[in-house]
Amino acid sequence: ARLVVLVSGSGTNLQALLDAIAAAPEGPDGYGARIVAVGADRDSIAGLERAERAGIPTFVCRVKDHATREEWDLALAEATAAYEPDLVVSAGFMKIVGREFLARFGGRFVNTHPALLPSFPGAHGVRDALAYGVKVTGCTVHFVDDGVDTGPIIAQGVVEVRNEDDEAALHERIKEVERRLLVDVVGRLARNGYRIEGRKVVIP
Ligand code: GRF
Repeated sequence: ARLVVLVSGSGTNLQALLDAIAAAPEGPDGYGARIVAVGADRDSIAGLERAERAGIPTFVCRVKDHATREEWDLALAEATAAYEPDLVVSAGFMKIVGREFLARFGGRFVNTHPALLPSFPGAHGVRDALAYGVKVTGCTVHFVDDGVDTGPIIAQGVVEVRNEDDEAALHERIKEVERRLLVDVVGRLARNGYRIEGRKVVIP
């Protein structure tokens, strides 16, 4: 399968996918997917450097370069479509896509979120979980729908919250689980295919 990965920051989830693909054997028992491009909403981030180091084409779609949010959304959709992806993966991509993007990639657009959805959606899931005082949190890989972190859930991983945790420490521990979960899910979606039945995702 052809993957386009969207990033906004350090790109450690992207790196986990790059490493898994590089480590897998070629051919039928391989990972089943390859990254054909990496897109971002901003320049000069480690995520883009990771793609460049791996020799993967990149593109940047900045909201401020477009007159309206809708035009940005269309530009992002077209830049992504140019690589003819089978699956699009948001790995720390921090923008909410719009109607155009979802019209083209809905149902094959996967996001990873550092909390156990539906708890703590949005841009500060780790901070919100910590502030709430939950004893376990974790990460969720889900299909993107027209809400914020509300699409059908594919897989989740649980992470214990420790007394001495601050946001950075907890997020780092979540990301250790998240990277493994994302690599596992993307590989299975690519190799086995899947069905989305209402809120249920079935991977044969
Ligand atoms: C991940 O935890 C992702 O869920 C969240 O931001 C983090 C991105 O990390 N939205 P990285 O850029 O993949 O290192």
